[in-house]
Amino acid sequence: MSDGRALAREFLEQQRLLGGDAVILPDGPPPRADGRSGGQADGNTPSRSAGPVVRPSAAATDLPRPGISYDPPGGDLFSNDPVPQAVSLEAIAQLVAGCTKCRLCEGRRHTVPGEGAAAARLVVVGEGPGRVEDETGRPFVGPAGELLTKILGAIELPRERVFICNVVKCRPPENRLPQFDEIAACVPYLFRQIDIVKPSVILAMGGTAAQTLLNTKQSLGALRNFVHRFRGIPLIVTYHPAALLRNPNWKKPTWDDVRIARRLIG
Ligand code: URA
Ligand code: SF4
Repeated sequence: MSDGRALAREFLEQQRLLGGDAVILPDGPPPRADGRSGGQADGNTPSRSAGPVVRPSAAATDLPRPGISYDPPGGDLFSNDPVPQAVSLEAIAQLVAGCTKCRLCEGRRHTVPGEGAAAARLVVVGEGPGRVEDETGRPFVGPAGELLTKILGAIELPRERVFICNVVKCRPPENRLPQFDEIAACVPYLFRQIDIVKPSVILAMGGTAAQTLLNTKQSLGALRNFVHRFRGIPLIVTYHPAALLRNPNWKKPTWDDVRIARRLIG
């Protein structure tokens, strides 16, 4: 099979996985009659139009505009607070395991600090542990997690190569939204995890992650389609996978967002 065909097939498979239309190649010309890629699917193949070689259209190559930059102060290294001084993800996980800084400690079975590679180039941030996460102590292992695993596979970033965590590390009762004071109590762990991993890109999934990491009350819809920055690190906002399970129409825009994140990683 030609490279073009292989790439087109892979692209269509990704579209199917993410619920996109399996026939239409978005933003691009239709597939060529000879079955080779239509020019956009792999971001490389020249357009089929005659004349000068046309690279994928601006829409496909331009990154979204810069958005919010949030640069929260780091912890005071001279204070007694151990969180800003923790030097490893394991050290953070240990601090989280003993944490009683907010009421969410009362109902938890396990803390869920996050997991993945300390050298990850992508940090994925969700909202908080759900039922299965609380039972296992691992992030994103329930139904939303299965979808996240597929999404990461589709951009060729297997779960193990990413660091996956949440804004709050203990499960809110009945999966309610974490409250403002709970987020405020927990967020130093997240900030320190990001400092330790030093990823190239952060993917904020859902309103809680986006609003917390950008220190804003703007809606998820208003925050998508920008390259924001958290302490200088590019940050992309997308839908939460649990929301995608409820509303499959959001799969296509999510796919667009994660491809932008992938391109930023390089
Ligand atoms: N939803 C989240 O936000 N995080 C998880 O870990 C699982 C579901
Ligand atoms: Fe501590 Fe965060 Fe758990 Fe609250 S949610 S008890 S701040 S680890």
